[in-house]
This record gives sequence, C-alpha cells and structure tokens, in this order.
Amino acid sequence: MGKLSRFGVAMDEDLLDRFDRLVERRGTHANRSEAVRDLVRDALVESEWEDSDEEIVGTVTMVFDHHASDLSERLDSLQHAHHDKIVSSMHIHLDAHNCLEVLVVRGTSAQVRAIADGLLGTKGVKHGKLVLTTTGQHL
Ligand code: NI
Repeated sequence: MGKLSRFGVAMDEDLLDRFDRLVERRGTHANRSEAVRDLVRDALVESEWEDSDEEIVGTVTMVFDHHASDLSERLDSLQHAHHDKIVSSMHIHLDAHNCLEVLVVRGTSAQVRAIADGLLGTKGVKHGKLVLTTTGQHL
C-alpha cells in the first residue's frame, strides 16, 4: 500500500446514517474508510474492464424454472456454444421447479459480458447477475 491520504466528504446525514449501518453489518474490522476504499476499488475495477482486452473472470448466477418450455435446452445450447469460455458450472435443484446455476466465465470483458447477456436475457430466467472479478494486482 502507498502513502495514505485523507480527504473530507460532505454527505447528507440520513445517507451517512444508512452507510454507517451498512458498515456495521460487515463486522468488527469494518469501518467507514475501509468501506469507502472497497467502493472505490469496485468502481475502478468496473471502469478498467469497460474497454480492456485483458482476460477477466466473471461469475454468472441465474435462477430459472426448468419446466418453462424449452428453457433448460436453450440455456444448455448457449453454454455448449461457449464451452471454451465457460470453465466451470454448478447446477442446484432448489425445489420441485426452480434451478440455480452458477457459471465461471473467462475471456475478454466483451466476451464475458456477451455470454452473460445471452444467458440472462433468455426468456424465462427469473433472476440473474454477472459479477466480474480480478486478482487485484492493479488495485
Ligand atoms: Ni435443476
């Protein structure tokens, strides 16, 4: 870590209260400074990936009803089409109808986003999210 700099931030009291409660829920080592640093790192990581050609890793989480028409088959076909980018997948049968799938996707930012958009945009996927991550070497 480099030299620490301090800076002041003006914020609405109500917003700060809510932020403090969020920080508190994170546990004993959490404090405002660490929480703000996390937010800054997140923002930098996101912007770094916008137009980077470097390889990144993302996890795609999705919940869907496997009874819904041919949804399972369509999601499967998409995954087979990108078998070289999807390095791992996990399927959990949540209940009689719902499935949870978590995939790890590796590629350029554009490739990972395109695969995630294709999967999450498939009609019948109830909930989903792409989370991009990094080794943190440049942060
Ligand atoms: Ni299932």
